[in-house]
Amino acid sequence: MSGSNPVARVGTGIAGLDEMLGGGVPAGHVVLVTGLPGTGKTCLGLQFLAAGLAHGERGLFLSLEEDAPQLVESARLFGWPVEEAVRTGALTILRLDPKETRQNLQRIQGSFAKELAASGAKRIVVDSVSLLNMLGEDEPAKRQTLFGLAGACRASGATAILTAEADPTHPAVTRDGLSEYVADGVILLGYSTAEDGRRVGLSLRVLKMRRTAHARTVQPYRIGPGGLTVDAKAVDFGSGL
Ligand SMILES: Nc1ncnc2c1ncn2[C@@H]1O[C@H](COP(=O)(O)OP(=O)(O)OP(=O)(O)O)[C@@H](O)[C@H]1O
Ligand SMILES: [Mg+2]
Repeated sequence: MSGSNPVARVGTGIAGLDEMLGGGVPAGHVVLVTGLPGTGKTCLGLQFLAAGLAHGERGLFLSLEEDAPQLVESARLFGWPVEEAVRTGALTILRLDPKETRQNLQRIQGSFAKELAASGAKRIVVDSVSLLNMLGEDEPAKRQTLFGLAGACRASGATAILTAEADPTHPAVTRDGLSEYVADGVILLGYSTAEDGRRVGLSLRVLKMRRTAHARTVQPYRIGPGGLTVDAKAVDFGSGL
C-alpha cells in the first residue's frame, strides 16, 4: 500500500471488507469467493455489482444457479433495485443452463471473451464456478474451462468475482480444489459456532490477494437488509454471533 504508484482499487460495496483489503480489490483481479451454502456468496456478488452500478460501472452476472428473475428479486430485497439497469443494459444477466454442457463449454472457451467486451462490463460475477466445473468431463477439461474463464475476465480488463462451493469436510478449500489456483485472490466465507454450541455466526477471511497487503484475521460478518456487513475491527467473535 506504500510506494509512489499504488495499485488502483475497486470497492466491493462492503466497507469492512474494503478495509481488510486496504481499500478494495486491486483493479483487474479475478477473486474467488468460497463458502458453504448460505454463507452469502450470491449476495456478495450482487452487492459487488450494485456498488459498481451506483458509480455508473456496467456489470455482468453469469449465473449457473439462480435465474435472472430470482437474482433481480434478491437484489431488490437487499435494497438494490436493478430492474432499470437490466432494462438499459447497464447490467447483463447471462443464465447458463447446466444441462446444456457442450454449448456452454463452447461458449466459455469461444465467444465469451467477445461477449464480455461487448457488454462493456467493468465488474463480472460468475456464480458458481463449481457448477461450471461439473460440466467438464475430466480434470484437464475442468482446468481448461476455468483458465479460459479467468483469462477472458482478465482480457476484458474488468474486475471479477468467481464464487465456488467450499468442500463440506474441509471448508477452507473449494470442492474442486482447482479454483483457488486460477484466482488472484481468495476470500473465505464460513460459519463459526459459539462456545455454547447454540449460536452460529458468520466469519470471513482473506486467504490471498495478489499485489496488496491485507488483513489475515478472521472477522465476523452479517447478512442483513442491506447485504453483507463485515466488522473489520472486532477482535472477538462475540460481536458476530
Ligand atoms: N433479504 C435478506 N435479508 C437478510 N438476510 C438474507 C436475505 N436474503 C438472504 N439472506 C441470508 O443470506 C443467506 C443466503 O445467502 P446467499 O444465497 O447469498 O448464499 P450462498 O452462499 O450463495 O448460498 P448457496 O451456496 O446455497 O448458493 C440466507 O440463508 C439468509 O441467511
Ligand atoms: Mg448462491
